[in-house]
Order: sequence, then C-alpha cells, then structure tokens
Amino acid sequence: MSEPSKVQVKTVAELAEQPEEYRIAVGKLVISHAINELYGAQVFDEPAVALAPTPYAKWLTCRVAMEEYGHHCHFFKLGREMGIPEEKMIPGKTEKRPLSIFEHKLETWEEFVTIKLLGDLAEILQVEDLLHCTFHPLRNLARQTMPEERFHAQFGIDFGQELVKTPEGKARLQEAVNRIFPSLPAFFGAAKSRNNEIFRKWGIKLRTNEEMRADYLKRAAEVVAKLGLTLPKVAQAA
Ligand SMILES: [Fe+2]
Ligand SMILES: [Fe+2]
Repeated sequence: MSEPSKVQVKTVAELAEQPEEYRIAVGKLVISHAINELYGAQVFDEPAVALAPTPYAKWLTCRVAMEEYGHHCHFFKLGREMGIPEEKMIPGKTEKRPLSIFEHKLETWEEFVTIKLLGDLAEILQVEDLLHCTFHPLRNLARQTMPEERFHAQFGIDFGQELVKTPEGKARLQEAVNRIFPSLPAFFGAAKSRNNEIFRKWGIKLRTNEEMRADYLKRAAEVVAKLGLTLPKVAQAA
C-alpha cells in the first residue's frame, strides 16, 4: 500500500475506495466551499451591485456575483456526485455556520472593495493550497476557479486605486480596511488544527493554518501598501 501522501485519487468513483478518514476530510472541504461561496455571494456580492457607484462598476460587480454563485454551483455539483446531501451544502439548512467574516453587515461600496481586496486574497491562498490536492476533482475545481478569484482580488485593487485618488475616498477606504481586516486572519482556522493535520497527512492540502496565516498577513500588507494604506493592528490569532 502506498504512503498516504502519495495516493492520487483521480475520480469521484475512486474516492469510494479510499479510507474513511480521506473521504470525510475531502467532504469537509467541499461542504465548506459550497456553503461559504453561496453565503458570500448572498450577503456581499449580490447586494454590492446596488452599492456600486457607476454603470461600469455595477457591470463588473454583477460579473463577480455571477462567478461567486458559479463557484457554489461547481462545489455543490461535486458534493452531490460524492453523495453529500444537498442540505449540508446550503447555509441555513445545515447547522454548519458560514465563516465569521460573513457576519459583517455590508453597508458601503468601500467595504465591498475591501472585501474583494483582502477577503478574496485570503480565498486565493486557500485555493492555491488545493492546486496540488491529491483528490483530482477538487484540484481541478481549484484550477478552474483560480483565474476568477484573481479577477476578484484585482477588482479590489482597481476600484481601490480609484478611491484613493481623493483624500476623502482614501479615508473612507482606510476606515473600511480598519473595520473589516481584523476578522480576516481567523479565516485560516485555528493553530494546531486536527483537521489541517489530516488534510496534510493525505496531501489534500499542503500548508499549516499558521503558515498560511503568516503568508496572508505579509501579502495583505503589501497589497494595502500599494494603495498608500495600512493594516490595523490585530491580536495575534491563536
Ligand atoms: Fe469564490
Ligand atoms: Fe471571489
């Protein structure tokens, strides 16, 4: 029998032959993505269309919302193929709660720009970690959605650059960053996570939560620095 980390699971049919620990671990990731992509689209991306200041901004925000709903649909479809019940992948129908970042009540365009700038950067790191996942249907989905997640983060940079052209816009964006950023480091999960240990054992994910969080903090600081902004100090996540 091959080493756990060397196992390559090419199809959903092959997944059925894997140990229970592997099947449960992959299922958790698919459920989490299906729930959070849908909830994010519902509470951030779709409402942001009404907040977008120009027809051009509305057009691109519609595209972002369409793609986020699309991400849910792709993970949901994979989950169904794996035999996961529909209700486990729909927020509100399952006891599993969406990530805490989504509890923020979106009220301004600057907040949405911040969410794309810094929230989708966090999502990019998560998707990057799946690009070499040993469960190929999930790896392929990560490779398929990655260009769109990059577009969402670039959307945040582009509209951020528009906002910082005026002192008022820059102040409003900095204020939004100060409000939203503190909830983002927790996106990477707890340190010494048992789930994460299992994901790495099987080559489903590559990095520890701590490594990903440290990388995220570095990349987030670089992104806001390009806009002449700063990150607020946040308590070091456990
Ligand atoms: Fe997404
Ligand atoms: Fe996104």
